[in-house]
Amino acid sequence: MQIVRQLGPLRTALDAIRQTKPRLGLVPTMGALHAGHMRLVETALAQCDAVVVSIFVNPTQFGDGEDLDAYPRQEAADAALLEAAGADLIWVPTVDQVYPDGFATNISVTGVSAGLCGGSRPGHFDGVATVVAKLFNQTRPDAAFFGEKDYQQLAVIRRMARDLDFSHDIVGVPTVRDADGLALSSRNAYLTSVQRRAAVALPDNMRDAADAISKGGDVINILEEAKAKLLSSGFHQVDYFELRNAETLENMTVFNKPARLLAAAHIGSTRLIDNIAVA
Ligand code: PAF
Repeated sequence: MQIVRQLGPLRTALDAIRQTKPRLGLVPTMGALHAGHMRLVETALAQCDAVVVSIFVNPTQFGDGEDLDAYPRQEAADAALLEAAGADLIWVPTVDQVYPDGFATNISVTGVSAGLCGGSRPGHFDGVATVVAKLFNQTRPDAAFFGEKDYQQLAVIRRMARDLDFSHDIVGVPTVRDADGLALSSRNAYLTSVQRRAAVALPDNMRDAADAISKGGDVINILEEAKAKLLSSGFHQVDYFELRNAETLENMTVFNKPARLLAAAHIGSTRLIDNIAVA
């Protein structure tokens, strides 16, 4: 497995890989890999001949008050996991390989980026869309793999790829969960054991709300009740608990398929997000 840090050598290495492994999969990450990322890599390996994983802690998607410097960096441990999984190449660009001097372009995807996490993290999805477009152009994959855990991010990337004529597949990979149902996230490590036990209220309430909505219950009441239940089970702030169209992410107050329930809530100093389909 090669580790490449400059664009010229990346292009040379990918051209060589493609000689014998024509279908290339890309898994974009910011490193600090956990089982959720490794599921993306496994899925990419199952669907492609070769897999490149990018590790780049993207400064433009961090807002004021979000600590870019504190973001975990553990390249050696990540490389060991990726080598064992069978990835072909890790693309670890330096900041100037992504944002060369004078970089002045911003990709802003309206509509799907409004509200939800876009509401509480202004500019975040511009940073994501811009870096992902760069990674697509740098690696020119046949398919790119993203977790459904970050559902709004996936919707933004799908819209951006359609709008800008990226023709490769964008593959959404279902969320990996702990045995009790909590979605895997690097943020779970910040939870105390008491908070970790309480955190399961998030997926539990989402499942209950999704069941009640699919049985024809009143959407607004169900969402209000679910928020109240979260607040009485250890969460101290609910940023959103909303039903949205699963493709356009338009808000829904009356259930229509395809629908997705999305939530973000704070427990202690940790903000957790989750989403599930409403069938
Ligand atoms: O989901 C992430 O890890 C990041 O937002 C991504 C897609 C790698 C862009 O920096």
